[in-house]
Amino acid sequence: MKLSVLLLCALVAVQAALLAAPSAQAKGLQVGYYNKKCRKGVDVEGVIMWHIKRAIKKNPRVGAALVRLVFHDCFVRGCDGSVLLEKSAQNPHPEREAPANIGLAAFDVLEEIKADLERKCRGVVSCSDILVYAARDATKILSRGHIDYKVPGGRLDGMYSSAYEAQAELPDSTFTAQQLINNFARKNFDAEEMVILSGAHSIGMAHCSSFRGRLTAPSGEINRDYRNLLNYKCHQSANPAVVNNVRDEDYKTVARFMPGFKSRVRKIRDLFDNSYYHNNRARIVSFNSDWQLMTHKDTVEHVHEYAENATLWNEDFAESMVKLSKLPMPPGSKGGIRKKCSIVSHPLY
Ligand code: HEM
Ligand SMILES: *[C@@H]1O[C@H](CO)[C@@H](O)[C@H](O)[C@H]1NC(C)=O
Repeated sequence: MKLSVLLLCALVAVQAALLAAPSAQAKGLQVGYYNKKCRKGVDVEGVIMWHIKRAIKKNPRVGAALVRLVFHDCFVRGCDGSVLLEKSAQNPHPEREAPANIGLAAFDVLEEIKADLERKCRGVVSCSDILVYAARDATKILSRGHIDYKVPGGRLDGMYSSAYEAQAELPDSTFTAQQLINNFARKNFDAEEMVILSGAHSIGMAHCSSFRGRLTAPSGEINRDYRNLLNYKCHQSANPAVVNNVRDEDYKTVARFMPGFKSRVRKIRDLFDNSYYHNNRARIVSFNSDWQLMTHKDTVEHVHEYAENATLWNEDFAESMVKLSKLPMPPGSKGGIRKKCSIVSHPLY
């Protein structure tokens, strides 16, 4: 009697564990996954870091692009490299074609790393893992080592990529705070984690079309001088890209529109820190979705919290990036190791 009750309990527990497991793939992820997967002397994570350092030195834009790219990969079908697929005869509308994916970059850097790893350790390292490690390394470099996290490997590359799906899954810059909260909740991220991850807008650039509404927003929602600066920048050409963080702006423009900000202009661009929250409190952020974080009780408290404690944000951002990097493919999806990151070439596993 006792034994059968125990057995029953054990069975229920096993079943519950199976139901709770997001997918077989996510369960298999492991820190140091590639340590013994290649011949001796090939340090996969080391190779990736070497490339990322070099690529950022050559083109500082690469760092921010990678941080955004991992978000856009993982939020759509999990971290499966689906955002890396190019359009082809079989798939004329992959994720990259979605309006929400405007401005994505750094695909060439990932393809270079993939080619190098294929030479050194053929058929072993997935593109989805390369992207996760590359974004981790870019984060570390741009934050001057302040954001440093271990992230597990072992992902497989997906077979499927849809622009329609990307557009439906990714948040839009016109969203209200409640829409943002709901969008992240679908991936099991709470309002605080959404605020933490939004801090990534302390780096990088955005096309004027991504914040058009902000150019005429009332001064309660955007600093008037900043609005004038954005209007000036956005009328230089058809749809230019403007830096997200005003301290990355050129000195002359800041001196003209926001002289009070002159001392904050930086020689080094894309310094990754909690300045987003300071800017947000001062109504100096690009997107409506950024400003919206000041309007909801579940988000505004965290804007203040992370403005006031830089160390806390560094730590919590790292934690949220690890969580983001673990989002699994939809249950039952097939995966493999691509030969090139931009095309599905692998057999089904
Ligand atoms: C909260 C919802 C979010 C919205 C609505 C949003 C929206 C956007 C938009 C519209 C752009 C500019 C694209 C362009 O015009 O070229 C952008 C850029 C960027 N986003 Fe977000 N984003 C969000 C969250 C995130 C998250 C969670 C991350 C990463 C953790 C992130 C990282 C970035 C980065 C780094 C850039 C600059 C990219 C570059 O310079 O190439 N964003 N975002
Ligand atoms: C800021 O956060 C860090 C890390 O969690 C913590 O150790 C520290 O006490 C916090 N500082 C303040 C002033 O609250």
